[in-house]
Amino acid sequence: MHREDFLLLKQNIVYLDNGATTLKPKIISETVSDYYNNYSANAHRGDYDLSLKVDFKYEDTRVLVKYFINAKKTKEIIFTSGATDSLNKIIFGFFKYYLKEDDEVLLTKSEHASNVLPWFELADELKLKVNYIPLDNLEVTLDNVINSITDKTKVISIAHVTNVIGDIRPIKEIIDYAHRKGILVIVDGAQSVAHMKVDVQDLDIDFLVFSAHKMLGPTGVGVLYGKEALLNNMHPIIFGGGMNSNFQFDGTRVYNDLPTVFEAGTPNIAGVIGLGEAIKYLNNIGMDKIKEYELNLKKYALVELKKVKDIIIYNENSQSGIITFNIKDVFAQDLAIYLNKYNICIRAGNHCAKILKDEIGIKNTCRISLYFYNTKEEIDYLVKVLSNPNLKEEII
Ligand code: ALA
Repeated sequence: MHREDFLLLKQNIVYLDNGATTLKPKIISETVSDYYNNYSANAHRGDYDLSLKVDFKYEDTRVLVKYFINAKKTKEIIFTSGATDSLNKIIFGFFKYYLKEDDEVLLTKSEHASNVLPWFELADELKLKVNYIPLDNLEVTLDNVINSITDKTKVISIAHVTNVIGDIRPIKEIIDYAHRKGILVIVDGAQSVAHMKVDVQDLDIDFLVFSAHKMLGPTGVGVLYGKEALLNNMHPIIFGGGMNSNFQFDGTRVYNDLPTVFEAGTPNIAGVIGLGEAIKYLNNIGMDKIKEYELNLKKYALVELKKVKDIIIYNENSQSGIITFNIKDVFAQDLAIYLNKYNICIRAGNHCAKILKDEIGIKNTCRISLYFYNTKEEIDYLVKVLSNPNLKEEII
C-alpha cells in the first residue's frame, strides 16, 4: 500500500527492518523542510507572527497525538526525544519518588534495554527488587502475571508488543488486574502504536511511551503519555528554559504546569511538527487497515519462509508483523550481511533485548519486521534468496 509515497523504495531496496525504524513518506521531509525554510522560529518564546505560527503547529501535534491515542487531555501529552527518554523521565521523575526500599518492579525478559536498564539503576539506588514475569512459549499470559505479583509489587513495566518476539501482550487484562491490586502499569508502545489502534482510556494505561521514527515520523522525537493525576506527581529531571515561569537569585523558583514543565530547552520543533504529519498520514490509511494488512502479510510470509531449508522460526504464533528466525548453522549477522548483497535489509543480533537469550536459549537471531508498504513480492524475493542451495557455502 502507498509505496509511491516512499522515495527510498524507488532505490530497489527491500526494507524489512521496520521495527528498527520505518521509512518516511516524502510529506515528512517536505514538512520538516517547510519549517526550516519558511518559519524556523523558536516555540513558546516569541511575540511575533512567525513564532506564533510555530506555537500553533507545535501544539497542533499535541492535539493530534491526544486524539491518536485517545488521551483525556492534551496536557497529558509530553514531547520527548523518544521512547527511551520517555521511560527515563517516568522512572527517574515519578517512580524514584513513588517507590521505596524492598518494593518490587515486574518486567519480562523480553523487554528492550530501555525498559530494563533504567530499572536496574533505580533498583540499585533505592534497593528495589526487579522480578520477571515468566514467559509461556515466549509470551506473557495473564496467569503468569497474576502468579508473579506479590504484596510488594508496585509497578509493571512491559512492552505492548515486543521487538523480538512480536507478541501482543494482553494489556487490557493485565492492567485491569494490576489496578485491582493497586499496581501501576507502564506500557512501552514503541512497537505497537504505529501498527494498531492504541486507546489509552480504553486500556486504562497509566503511562505510555513511543517514538515518532517508528511511525513514519522524524528521529529524535517521542511521546510520554501519563494520566494527569500521575503527571502532577512526576518531577522534572531536566531543568532550564521553557519549563519555569519564575526564579530568583535566592533559589526560589516556580515551574510551569503540565505539559511544558517536562519540556525544558528548545524542543525538536521540526520533529514534533513532522510527527503531526505522520499521524495525519496514518489516520488517512486507518490503523485497523494497517493492522489487518500486516497480519495477512505476516501469515503469507510464514507459509513461504517455512519452505526454506533449515529455517528455525521462533515466534510463529505472534500476531504482529515481526518474524524472528535463524537458518541452522548460520550466524545471524552473517545472514543479514548476505541478504544485504541482494538489497534486503533485515536486523540481526540480540535486538537490544539482551536478557531474552535466557528464555530462548539463543543469543542472536534474524528479524524481519513488516509494515504496510511491504508486499508479497518482497517476501517472495526474500524466500528466493534464502532458498539458494549454496547459501551456506557462500556465507562461509
Ligand atoms: N528498538 C529497535 C529495534 O527493535 C531499534 O530494532
